[in-house]
Formats: sequence, structure tokens, C-alpha cells
Amino acid sequence: MSKNKKLIIANWKLNPNSLKEAKKLFSDIKKTASKTSKIQTVICPPFVYINELNKMYSGHRIEIGAQNVFWENKGKYTGEISPSALKSVGAKYVIVGHSEARALGESNADVNKKVNIVLKTGLKVVLCIGESKRDSQALYLKFLKEELESALSDVPKNHLKNLIITYEPIWAIGKTADDAVSPHQMYEMYIFIKKILTELYGKFSASNVPIIYGGSAEPGNVEELLTQGEVDGFLVGHASLEAQQFNEILKITNSF
Ligand code: 13P
Repeated sequence: MSKNKKLIIANWKLNPNSLKEAKKLFSDIKKTASKTSKIQTVICPPFVYINELNKMYSGHRIEIGAQNVFWENKGKYTGEISPSALKSVGAKYVIVGHSEARALGESNADVNKKVNIVLKTGLKVVLCIGESKRDSQALYLKFLKEELESALSDVPKNHLKNLIITYEPIWAIGKTADDAVSPHQMYEMYIFIKKILTELYGKFSASNVPIIYGGSAEPGNVEELLTQGEVDGFLVGHASLEAQQFNEILKITNSF
């Protein structure tokens, strides 16, 4: 991804329920995503569709990603999916540490193992951090710092080029643009995350890590978050399941 390109990542979660529908959604998005030259679009479908969707587009404006991964590349782990296997079917990105995976039991230590192996395998990590609620003493900042620092434990500086951080507050997921983070709140989080990255890796390396936003990113709020929130892109949930809405997000973002 070129440094100046915005990153728009679709997280389809547990949708759609058939390969046929997945192909239709992908091809409806492809019409716009293949033309938006200032954007790197990434589609993260359920695992089983990755291979087929990857075959539907041969350029670089759209890449395919996975929504999760296991922390080993081989072994006796029934039902798990390795980074190497994902790479072999064309995935280039992996979402790690999504709050919905954490809610099902994924720990900070698990996230850290996943981040390291995905980077070692040569894939890009879309690392998610986010608090469930905000408190007046700003304890959530301590929580976020811990999530970020523990996820990046043992990650060497030379792997940072494949790292994307998503600030995705749980309280903003699955709602509407009005309930999402405000541009001012996003700007504060942008500075906060950059500061932690700078402490860990120095100013130069930290400055190159994209910081994107997730949590009810919709056509109605992406412009203000881009212009006032300093975001480098979005991780889009429900609005990525409607091609028209997702394409609108692509077009708005491409106009900056
Ligand atoms: P929504 O855009 O539906 O709020 O989902 C956000 C999300 O969880 C993306 O990873």
C-alpha cells in the first residue's frame, strides 16, 4: 500500500451466508473499488470465501483479508486456520484482536501471538483495540495502552511496515454515524496511539503506521473523521454489507 493511500477495510463478519451472495457483493463493490485510485480497499469475508473472491480480481486496488487466524502455522489444532494457509489462498491482511473475537475468549496474550506470527508470515496485521466504555477518570486510556503494548510485545521495528492499528471502541459498533466517535475524540485517540507507538519504536517508525477507525463508519461520518479526525481509513462493518453504502464511503474517501 502506498503511504498516501487511504485504507478502507470491509469486515463482513458472519455474512453473507452463501458463496453466491458473497460473489455478488464482491462484484458490486469491485465496480467502484477498482476505480478509486487513492484507496486501498480490503475485503475481509468469512474464511471459506477468500480463495474464490481472490480469483475475481487481479489488480492491486482490492486485496482480500481474513477476520481472524490461529497463532501457529502447523500442528494438532483441530478447526484452526494458519497464516500460511491464508497466504496460500491469496489473503494479504488479517484482522487481529477484534473485540468480537476477544468477547469469545481471545486474550491479550493470544492477540500478541497472532500479531507476531502473521507478521512473520509476511501478511499485514489489522490490529484492533477499543474500550467498552469511557469513564470520567479516563481509565480507558490505561486499558487501551495495555491492549496496544501487549499486542506489540516482541514485534520488531522492521515489521511495523505491515502493521495497521484500528481504534474501534466497542460502544460505537453496530450503531449509526451519530453514535460513532466524534472527530475530536478520534483526533485525541490518533495522538494517543501515535504517542505510544513513538515511545515503543521512535518517531520515524511510528509516523508510518496507519491508524484507522472502526465503529459505525458510514457515508454520513467518514468525511468529518477524515478531515478533522486525522484517520488514515476505516474498518467498516454493517455498511460494508450494502454495496451502495460501501461504494459511497469509497467515493467520499477518494475525493480527498
Ligand atoms: P460496524 O461498522 O457495524 O459498527 O462494525 C464495526 C466493526 O466491528 C468492524 O470491524
